[in-house]
Amino acid sequence: MAQPKNTRSWKYSASLRHAPTTLMSKSSPPLPAIDQVPAHVAIIMDGNGRWAKKRGLPRLSGHHAGTENLRRIIRACVEFGVKYLTIYAFSTENWGRPHEEVEGLMHILEDVIDKELNELNDEGVQINHLGRLEQLSPRLQKKVAKAVESTKSNSRLILNVAFNYGGRDELVQAIQQIIREGVPAEAITPELVNRYLYTAGVPDPDLIIRTSGELRISNFLIWQAAYSEWYVTPVFWPDFGKEEFRKALNEYAQRDRRYGGVSAPEYENSHA
Ligand code: FPP
Repeated sequence: MAQPKNTRSWKYSASLRHAPTTLMSKSSPPLPAIDQVPAHVAIIMDGNGRWAKKRGLPRLSGHHAGTENLRRIIRACVEFGVKYLTIYAFSTENWGRPHEEVEGLMHILEDVIDKELNELNDEGVQINHLGRLEQLSPRLQKKVAKAVESTKSNSRLILNVAFNYGGRDELVQAIQQIIREGVPAEAITPELVNRYLYTAGVPDPDLIIRTSGELRISNFLIWQAAYSEWYVTPVFWPDFGKEEFRKALNEYAQRDRRYGGVSAPEYENSHA
């Protein structure tokens, strides 16, 4: 099949995915042992605007450079064995940006679907949409639905695209649906709520990365992030390439996730 015009190849190399323990190269720090690679990484891809401003470019150039970087990170997820990648591409609050920027972001999503869907499909990437579809143009709604439908049997990497997504909005629509279905109050548990979210069936993110240094959650996965590890870097999203991603995974591997308890060695010592 002919390559789409004006696009870089999205060919992912999965050859390293099954490497037994650690992956090393001369120039890169060692990758964590494969069982310490987070199953689910979520990313707030921030700093596109500042990246562009620093170069005297329009903000949209930053979003285009950010899209290029997304390619690198999807490839890296396949290579490193990350199973779920969730990206925050357009929030329910982003409608407040200048019209040209909003239109540009809509166009980027459309373009990515048009130009990359076949290749993403070939490489076993499943695309899910998180957020409200109905406020998007009918044309974009159809394209998103097609991307979701045509990749639904893939399982190498689950790519959740949060587009017109807001964490509060997600909770509100879940509560509304629970009430509509007449679920009795006593039956409402965290597990039940999970089933009404856009992320139903997706494990909570193990690691949330925010680029460009801001220290806020910005209405992203506010329920699902309850026990996620955070990694915040000053690097702008278009510059957050494979090596930066590797650094984040290495740092994640050092974390002691206690989920409100105590770490295992501490527990063992206190009971010795
Ligand atoms: C935040 O940076 C970024 C966004 C609101 C958009 C992110 C979109 C992409 C990376 C393009 C990929 C999108 C799709 C649909 C596949 P910012 O513009 O707020 O940066 P700033 O804080 O420096 O201004």
